[in-house]
Amino acid sequence: MLEDTSFAIRPDQGMNEEKNPFQDIGNAKNISKTENEIKISADNGELAVVFYRDDIVRFVFQPLKEVMLDSSPAIVLAPEKSEVKLNDEKNAFRLEAPKLTVLITKTPIRITVMDSQRRVLFEQKEKGIGFKPTGEVICHSTRNHEDHYYGLGEKTGYLDKRGEKLTMWNTDVYAPHNPETDALYQSHPYFMVLRNGAAQGIHFDNTFKSTFDFRSEADVYSFGAEGGIVDFYVMAGPGPKDVLEQYTALTGRAPIPPKWAIGYHQSRYSYESEQEVRELAAIFKEKEIPLDAVYLDIHYMNGYRVFTFDRERFPEPENLVRDLKEQGIRIIPIVDPGVKEDPEYPIYQEGIYGDHFCKYIEGSLYFGDVWPGNSAFPDFTSSKAREWWGEKHKYYTDLGIEGIWNDMNEPSVFNESKTMDLKVMHNNDGNPKTHRELHNVYGLLMGEATYDGMKKQLGGKRPFLLTRSGFSGVQRYAAVWTGDNRSFWEHLQLSIPMVMNLGLSGIPFAGPDVGGFAHDSNGELLARWSQVGAFTPYFRNHSAIGTLRQEPWSFGEKYEQIIKKYIELRYQWLPQLYTLFAEAWQKGLPVMRPLMLEYPEDENTFNLSDQFMLGNNIIVAPIMQPSAEHRAVYLPEGEWVDYWTDEVYAGGNHHLVHAPLEVLPIFIKKGTVIALGEVRHSTAAADSKRILHYYYQPDSTSTFKMYDDDGTTFAYESGEYCLKTFEIKAMNREISLKISTEGRYEPEWQEVDIILHDAPELTTVDVNGEMKNVEKNTEKTCTIHL
Ligand code: GLC
Repeated sequence: MLEDTSFAIRPDQGMNEEKNPFQDIGNAKNISKTENEIKISADNGELAVVFYRDDIVRFVFQPLKEVMLDSSPAIVLAPEKSEVKLNDEKNAFRLEAPKLTVLITKTPIRITVMDSQRRVLFEQKEKGIGFKPTGEVICHSTRNHEDHYYGLGEKTGYLDKRGEKLTMWNTDVYAPHNPETDALYQSHPYFMVLRNGAAQGIHFDNTFKSTFDFRSEADVYSFGAEGGIVDFYVMAGPGPKDVLEQYTALTGRAPIPPKWAIGYHQSRYSYESEQEVRELAAIFKEKEIPLDAVYLDIHYMNGYRVFTFDRERFPEPENLVRDLKEQGIRIIPIVDPGVKEDPEYPIYQEGIYGDHFCKYIEGSLYFGDVWPGNSAFPDFTSSKAREWWGEKHKYYTDLGIEGIWNDMNEPSVFNESKTMDLKVMHNNDGNPKTHRELHNVYGLLMGEATYDGMKKQLGGKRPFLLTRSGFSGVQRYAAVWTGDNRSFWEHLQLSIPMVMNLGLSGIPFAGPDVGGFAHDSNGELLARWSQVGAFTPYFRNHSAIGTLRQEPWSFGEKYEQIIKKYIELRYQWLPQLYTLFAEAWQKGLPVMRPLMLEYPEDENTFNLSDQFMLGNNIIVAPIMQPSAEHRAVYLPEGEWVDYWTDEVYAGGNHHLVHAPLEVLPIFIKKGTVIALGEVRHSTAAADSKRILHYYYQPDSTSTFKMYDDDGTTFAYESGEYCLKTFEIKAMNREISLKISTEGRYEPEWQEVDIILHDAPELTTVDVNGEMKNVEKNTEKTCTIHL
């Protein structure tokens, strides 16, 4: 049944506050409680409070009706039983859970949430929850002038969103990303507030077009939407990493990617024939540039029909896929949602006969113009349609394909509104809703259909999915690339805070088109961008039709050598990256991190947008301007070691560093370890060695974990992994090491070297009680062979 939406579709109608003000939730009338759920009837609707965990509480306000506790597809957490005490006080209801206290005043209803230290996480004073007869909803919280805001998914601008007003409406924005471009391809109605070193998270579970207003003039911030209800979760922190753990418990975590997906990927719109792809692979081989995947953009298809190959351009795709796989290179085809209207095309026929396409309420099909021309769109809100679409991927898996690239899934349509008619209905498994309501989850649900389908077809192998569009929770299925940027230095710059905020929104696997998509790239830009790409979680070089070619060798020998060096560096660093991907799966922490995540009390980090961390001990500070060889780098407390020169820098300071074109400044924190491997031409090549670098810190104990597994199956979920813990004690100029191993996986590499940096001259080191010889390499380093 269609819900009663007396709030009709008139975007913008409610925007004039004076003529059409928000109505307040009103006063509390009655309260009822069942276990961890409290319902308060109000003058103008009903408010429910549900404790999901000790540190996560949900509020749902339904204007003028009783609350229904539905959720968007972002949510995967079910409420756990938690102890909640209700005190009905004179002016307020007090709800006490082990780690959270919720205070709800009665006249009018205003909500305050505190943690067990009485730290205020959310607070309403004059302004509370409001709604309009036209359907808009809003929710306010007081803000503090110390507040900084992060998350909110894929946004342009700097890291800290303080002072901004941001919109969530999945939009295909072709290339003009600039600080003013707001709604992009993804919607993550979630943010983290950092206040005095502590953090809390808010997820606004509303799929309509929504707005987050952190403009600084006011002493409140707000979030609201064009329709639906007020439904939000408060996550207690207290650290920013705790918020991420909580948020990813709520919306899910990214599976560990197949190893090949974190190697170097090469793309172009388009490699137009089988021969071109083979030649491309041959050049990589000849030049000994590592490569793990090549993308097939829209030209591989027959008339842009998904699930087909143009047999003239690609006469034998199965042979192509097989031959390249033998060289360690995977093929990843693009799959867009639009299905060409063509009664002789089996996918279109099946979609029609199976009733899988989006329709108007009156029953006629919705058609939109996309690459193949007039096209129908699968209704991914229907589980039947998702299953059908997923199964269709057998076409690709039968050819040996293990990765899929989903594009245009906002969905993008070539028309004025850039998307589907908002009146189109989505079946939504028997609870039909308009596209206006479900637009933002279309890409997420296409991701679910594709990922689940591929997973089923691959019989135990990990699929790789890349998506452009998404909603909160998309990390469960896909890596995200940030869409159509341009070959501008400014776009390299803005990709850093964008990927970091995606990471703070639960998406560890993200990256931009390296080198820039639209516009012509150049050698210097591609070299600098490839340096950054080597350390962004997702590393793909992609460029648009009609622009200069952008493969690593496109701008001459000088640049090629630098780009090659950094692609090789990526492969050396894969063990470190892989360990971080495992941490993302376990705890929801991003691979690429803003410094504020590790140093939330250091205000120098709060809006630091041009450098980033890998995990908790590596800082990368790229050069992102033309003709520049120097830049300022901020290093937080502690001491930091230049990865290339072993020079030591004092933390808590800004430093001017010199980085000629072949140098990407990288700093490792003293007293920590990084785990590297060897250069390989692809992740398919033998992986026989680990090289750990320990940056000596006198009188310290450091613990470091290194993760590995088979890299291809889901056996890690049931204990087939290898987690090595290294405990390094540096006391009285002696070093001792304790190594322990957890998990059942026997790694391929057996040889482990530990390189000590800047350690005292030692001849032996105690490793698990056995004395091992130390071999001197350079003045600053020596090696232990385990
Ligand atoms: C869109 C994608 C881009 C792709 C092109 C052709 O613009 O964002 O990556 O190359 O479509 O499929």
